[in-house]
Amino acid sequence: MQHAHDPERWRSEFPILASTTYLVNHSLGAMPRRVNDKLREFADQWATRGVRAWGEGWWDAPVTVGNVLAKLLNAPKDSVVMHQNVSVIQSLVASCLDFSGKRNKVVYTDQNFPTNMYVWEGCKQFGARIECVPTDGVHVDTERLLEAIDEETAIVPISHVTYKSHFIQDARAIQARAKEVGALVLLDTYQALGTVPVDVQALGLDMVCGGSVKWLCGGPGAGYLYVRPDLLPKLAPRMTGWAAHAAPFAFETGPQRYAPDIRRMLAGSPAVSSFMAATAGYELAIECGVTNIRNWSTKLTERLRLQLLSAGFQINSPERSEQRGGTLTVGLNEGENGPAFVKALEARGILVDHRPGAGIRVSPHYYTLEDELDEFVEALAELRKRRQWREFVSAKTSY
Ligand SMILES: Cc1ncc(COP(=O)(O)O)c(C=O)c1O
Repeated sequence: MQHAHDPERWRSEFPILASTTYLVNHSLGAMPRRVNDKLREFADQWATRGVRAWGEGWWDAPVTVGNVLAKLLNAPKDSVVMHQNVSVIQSLVASCLDFSGKRNKVVYTDQNFPTNMYVWEGCKQFGARIECVPTDGVHVDTERLLEAIDEETAIVPISHVTYKSHFIQDARAIQARAKEVGALVLLDTYQALGTVPVDVQALGLDMVCGGSVKWLCGGPGAGYLYVRPDLLPKLAPRMTGWAAHAAPFAFETGPQRYAPDIRRMLAGSPAVSSFMAATAGYELAIECGVTNIRNWSTKLTERLRLQLLSAGFQINSPERSEQRGGTLTVGLNEGENGPAFVKALEARGILVDHRPGAGIRVSPHYYTLEDELDEFVEALAELRKRRQWREFVSAKTSY
């Protein structure tokens, strides 16, 4: 039997919750208290073990930490490596591809996170063609996207959950279509993992990437890359380095001789401290359980959606919970200044953010209380009313 989720149980793990209403988890998840211990452990290792620390865990950190994260992805052991961020991972995967032939198309939607677009746009100079499928800004027309994936498609580097409206893309259908036509998928689960369950094996995904800053509460510098084990030997990244070599400490000169395992997707010396810090957030998410997190998130975002609608706000996120990630985007009226609203909310201790063309993004997490949503809606409604009142007064006094 599933136990009822109790957010109170997790709150003491996150110091910032004592002083703020933290609804910005799609941007930067709250820092777990345990990060202090992880970073102290790193510093102690450096201080006391010195150079020996490399052989005592540091060098292997991209894989050992990847194995912790793998539990959240239901990925097999040694199929995930850690990198600095998604931008680097996109470039690394792009460097595996040859765009000189007929199969040179890259397919995604206009809701892809811009950093990913910059990387693939840059591949045009090597022969890549980009097909960017237009959307209504909130939903993605899956049929239209699937039609764009054809025999000339090399790769579909696409968001699982879009960053503005938080629409959940149909990863299963995208992967199935790509497989049918011989294309690869690189699913960016940055806005999913930690709030929307991802099962790389059930979905049969080729590759998955993301970072830890947001829902995973893992902080910066801890990007992850999963590669399906049977796909791995076919990948030979041009963007590479000695950590990807079969025998890095043999210091062989000349061309790269790739490691036979997931290490072939590495590059240089790992960002050990970031990876160690990130495990605090992963452990908490594993302890809480991805299903519990999703259920609580769905309950809270639906409650919030109804509250906002009845307060007269427009929602620029999908209406149906099953199509929506962990965030609600609140549309603003013509002339309302999103960043000013965010600042005014911050002055009241409520943290959210704003994206141009989308609205104010609000995201509860597994440590959010229902009362905090009430507080946010009341504050936002009051700010809108105050602004309208100011306008009304200035219109009355302007003649
Ligand atoms: C879907 C998605 N991908 C990627 C990124 C950021 O990528 P990087 O790790 O390169 O900073 C974000 C950040 O907001 C995102 O929402």
